[in-house]
Amino acid sequence: MADEITLEVARFRPGEDTEPVLQSYQVPLREQWAVLDGLSYIKDHLDGTLSFRWSCRMGICGSCGMTVNGDPQLSCATFLTDYAPGPIRIEPLHNFPVIRDLVVDIGDFMDKLPTVKPWLVRDVHSPLEEGEYLQTPEELEDYQQFSMCINCMLCYSACPVYALDQDFVGPAAIALAQRYNLDSRDEGADERLAVLSSPEGIWSCTFVGECSAACPKGVDPAGAIQRYKLTAATQAIKGLLMPRSRR
Ligand code: SF4
Ligand code: FES
Repeated sequence: MADEITLEVARFRPGEDTEPVLQSYQVPLREQWAVLDGLSYIKDHLDGTLSFRWSCRMGICGSCGMTVNGDPQLSCATFLTDYAPGPIRIEPLHNFPVIRDLVVDIGDFMDKLPTVKPWLVRDVHSPLEEGEYLQTPEELEDYQQFSMCINCMLCYSACPVYALDQDFVGPAAIALAQRYNLDSRDEGADERLAVLSSPEGIWSCTFVGECSAACPKGVDPAGAIQRYKLTAATQAIKGLLMPRSRR
């Protein structure tokens, strides 16, 4: 195995560049090094002006998403040796405005997320002395997969619908809405219905499935969307026949 590998890194300086340019760096090719380690090496030893986001280095915080050789990846969980002998092209996540170099603006997602109320909604709060809202392992299993989301935005970067229509609520926000809709303690499904079943919600999804393929946490947002399509269609029919019901 070679000692070094070439990283071709997208550079973009706001106010100076009109479009990103690729800059090449040689970094050590070490077996245990992730792409993020290569970028940190550049930052520490070759070019301190390189900008990128990271925090946990262990696939939990969701902040290090980048496009690696064309695919959205967590750079802390993507290893240099998997791309040897290189070069490896590292670009910002697609479908988001670039702030600088590999840093993207996810403000659009942050604005959309609260519209689906990703928290437990209760009509009536039981008094504290009545204890916790308990649920069975089966009830937990119903939504647990969707609770694994780390807001990394890889699914938005992979989504061809979001690429064309940024009004689309998008895969993670819908999966997170389902995380609460399917929680036995939640009573907010009716409040989420209007946003989720709007033209910018589930019905925009053409079920390409790239979001689920890109997700590093096995959330399966495409599955969440298809499941909710069935719910929304059933709700629409029930709405004609009887008062409110949910899920
Ligand atoms: S659904 Fe998966 S890919 Fe999308 S933000 Fe959540 S963890 Fe990331
Ligand atoms: S640095 Fe936290 S997920 Fe990669």
